[in-house]
Amino acid sequence: MIPQSFIEDLLARVDVVDVVESYVPLKRSGSNFSARCPFHNEKTPSFTVSQTKQFYHCFGCGAHGTAISFLMEYQGMGFIDAVKDLAARVGMTVPEPSAPKEKAGGADEDLIGVVARAARFYKQQLKESEKAIGYLKGRGLSGEIAARYGLGYAPDDWQADYAKSTALSKAGLVIDGNEGRRYDRFRDRVMFPIQNQRGSIIGFGGRVIGKGEPKYLNSPETPLFEKGRELYGLVQARAGIRQYGVVVVVEGYMDVVALAQAGVEYAVATLGTATTPWQVQKLLKQADRVVFCFDGDTAGQRAAWRALENSLGQLVDGRQIGFLFLPEGEDPDSYVRARGKEAFEALLAAATPLSEYMLQELGSRVNMRSAEGRAKFLQDAKPLLAQIKAPMLSLVLRKQIAGLADVSQAELDARYGIQTPVTSRVPRRQVAEKPSLLRHLAEMLLVSPGLARLADIERFRAFAGIAVPEFSRSEVDLVAELLEMGVDSPHVQAVVERFRGKPLESMVGRFQASGLLAWESRELDEDALKKAFLGAWQSIDQRLSKSRIDALLEKSRKGSLSEEDKALYRSLVGNAAGDHASTG
Ligand code: UTP
Ligand code: MN
Repeated sequence: MIPQSFIEDLLARVDVVDVVESYVPLKRSGSNFSARCPFHNEKTPSFTVSQTKQFYHCFGCGAHGTAISFLMEYQGMGFIDAVKDLAARVGMTVPEPSAPKEKAGGADEDLIGVVARAARFYKQQLKESEKAIGYLKGRGLSGEIAARYGLGYAPDDWQADYAKSTALSKAGLVIDGNEGRRYDRFRDRVMFPIQNQRGSIIGFGGRVIGKGEPKYLNSPETPLFEKGRELYGLVQARAGIRQYGVVVVVEGYMDVVALAQAGVEYAVATLGTATTPWQVQKLLKQADRVVFCFDGDTAGQRAAWRALENSLGQLVDGRQIGFLFLPEGEDPDSYVRARGKEAFEALLAAATPLSEYMLQELGSRVNMRSAEGRAKFLQDAKPLLAQIKAPMLSLVLRKQIAGLADVSQAELDARYGIQTPVTSRVPRRQVAEKPSLLRHLAEMLLVSPGLARLADIERFRAFAGIAVPEFSRSEVDLVAELLEMGVDSPHVQAVVERFRGKPLESMVGRFQASGLLAWESRELDEDALKKAFLGAWQSIDQRLSKSRIDALLEKSRKGSLSEEDKALYRSLVGNAAGDHASTG
């Protein structure tokens, strides 16, 4: 664990504007910065970065957070990596506890260096190999594209000096042979470096030049390289994906590179394995539309169906997943080379929506004209449908499935064990939720924690134990914590980070977003915010007094009021009456 104090120091030193700007061009707008949101596709900028508050917020999709969460969300880093990255930017050293996990992290850094060195070596070798250059040229690739993808060449000899390195073995670049000998995994192959989302090279795919088996050799999974969590070409495609709002998923390294060569700059490839839910989720975050384009052979068909199965749980209403089936015998590389970018993009535009593909495929497996066939169809669709969490899509699909099987939707829902429409699973409270006083207070504290100094914390703490029916327990807890934190930690980002991984984290996120929204739209300055805060504080104070008074009255009805209680009662009534008079 990294100490909280370090996180706070770090956040005090980095500037979220610099961090965001290193990936997304920002424009100054008023006291803030704005851009088209990097987390969803939009035409007009609704992504705001506040330098004074040190966080970003998107009014379109609700994405928001600190410099740390930006790196986690945008770059896909883990918390520790994000902290390390930020620390490096401002010249701070993350305190290194001697936990074994941390040591592994250090070793990863070494491996990255080893793999990067190998990539530079392969790149250099490509320059010197007429044979490899000739091969790539023969496949229509320019020098620019080869450079953009960092292509290289592993020469056809044994790198004796490499053979000693354990790191190379761990990185999967050499193979441990008999009698302690190590030899190069990749020989006489064109090398495709695989980058993680941070741009570090973590592995390679190597293709034989011309014919030979196996056609591709890949790095094995290593501490750096987990195939299901990486996508080939994502780093190069990121700008294109953002620009067009679409990402194409293909099967091969060559497909990605050839598409880029043709000007289709938003393609990525899975790494010789089935598309994983993780990959789908990653892509749906970055693009509104994901199109799978696999080869027009049976292996491609199988891959497409696996991709569908692994996409179902990730579907989000408003995002689309499509399937593009190329003519038999074609792959994206051959297709785009033969017919060009426009033809390929026309196919993309006409890709089959996931729902259509699913129903077609299920329908084609049975005889839909027979009752038995339709029953099987219903049975086959059930487990697939059960995975879909997107409420609208689920509803529409159930209607469609029912129609195809010639049953009513109510009958289908009953058989599928769906009692109520999926939409009502969203708790009603959340939809109809009245903005509570406490929430209002919490929102303001999350925009400007220093406001806590205006409140009487002792009083709140004393009263917080009293049950006020309309005050939710978690909101009372949150306000109590915010008041305490706010007094000594006026930086909002530090306050927010303290909730990371705690039960109130998501509530903090929601409240901060809505607080910011109100704050931004009304352009409240600190003074106005203070007044609003004091107003809300008074109302809460009154509400708490009233519930105390009610409790005392109840007690007096039972005739058990002590002298102390009576004094308290008089002071409370006096207060409440006084406040009432001043507002009335
Ligand atoms: P393909 O055989 O479709 O490759 O395999 P391709 O991209 O069309 O290759 P070219 O055009 O002949 O150069 C698709 C992907 O499957 C994995 C690789 O990731 C490849 O990019 N694969 C294929 C292997 O890992 N090993 C193999 O022997 C073949
Ligand atoms: Mn090919």
